[in-house]
Amino acid sequence: MANLTGQERARYVQDMFERLAARYDLMNRIMTLGQDARWRRTVIRLADLPPGGRLLDLGAGTGDLARLAVQNNPVSQVVAADFTLEMMRVGRRHTPDPLSERLAWVGADASRLPFPTGYFNAVVSGFLLRNVADLDMCLAEQRRVLKPGGRFVALDTTPPPATPLLPFLRFHLHTVIPTLGALIAGQAEAYHYLPDTTEGFLAPEELADRLAASGFVQVRFERRMFGTIAIHSARKPER
Ligand SMILES: C[S@@+](CC[C@H](N)C(=O)[O-])C[C@H]1O[C@@H](n2cnc3c(N)ncnc32)[C@H](O)[C@@H]1O
Repeated sequence: MANLTGQERARYVQDMFERLAARYDLMNRIMTLGQDARWRRTVIRLADLPPGGRLLDLGAGTGDLARLAVQNNPVSQVVAADFTLEMMRVGRRHTPDPLSERLAWVGADASRLPFPTGYFNAVVSGFLLRNVADLDMCLAEQRRVLKPGGRFVALDTTPPPATPLLPFLRFHLHTVIPTLGALIAGQAEAYHYLPDTTEGFLAPEELADRLAASGFVQVRFERRMFGTIAIHSARKPER
């Protein structure tokens, strides 16, 4: 996987999530010991959606962030977009009817979004950025579809920092997670992909720099889970 780029990388990622879709949510809960629910609440709070505003959950997968946004913002419109249709099919089945009315599911590639410029008040993503073939394009597209002053929030794994805990965190990443992935999801390869892309991804400071270089302002990040998770937030400039 490490040597794949462009369309080949995108196809690899799509095939992997297609196979994982049925067990994806369960694996998330187990790997994070249920902590991902708290991080997701922070993402939706930071999105700060105004009443009646529009939110895009990009790389929505099974739609955990999108559903939370609908629940927390009773008069908002929420769009969940992803290029793996099977992930969204699973998500739709898990969405109760009252929420479905304000949640649209759209097949879309994060590097070429099918939405007008300045359409959304907030764009959020969970565990997307480290997967995309062209990060700068993906950031530029998110900035384009935001309204002036709109909010960007991204939750993702991040290379574990050099602290005394590093050997334990690496053991969890490279041994515990792939073993659980093989036992629970029957997908050991996908759960080698997770630690490999985590270690290969940008440090939070570097991602913050890329956001600033993409034209975002008020760029901030907070770390969670012994520094292995980061939540970045930023704004599109008012003009
Ligand atoms: C790790 S899952 C995250 C799902 C969900 N956001 C969450 O928080 O659990 C990553 C998702 O990003 C999607 N994805 C990766 N690259 C993408 C791209 N270029 N365009 C659209 N979706 C993409 C995958 O299909 C997958 O559903």
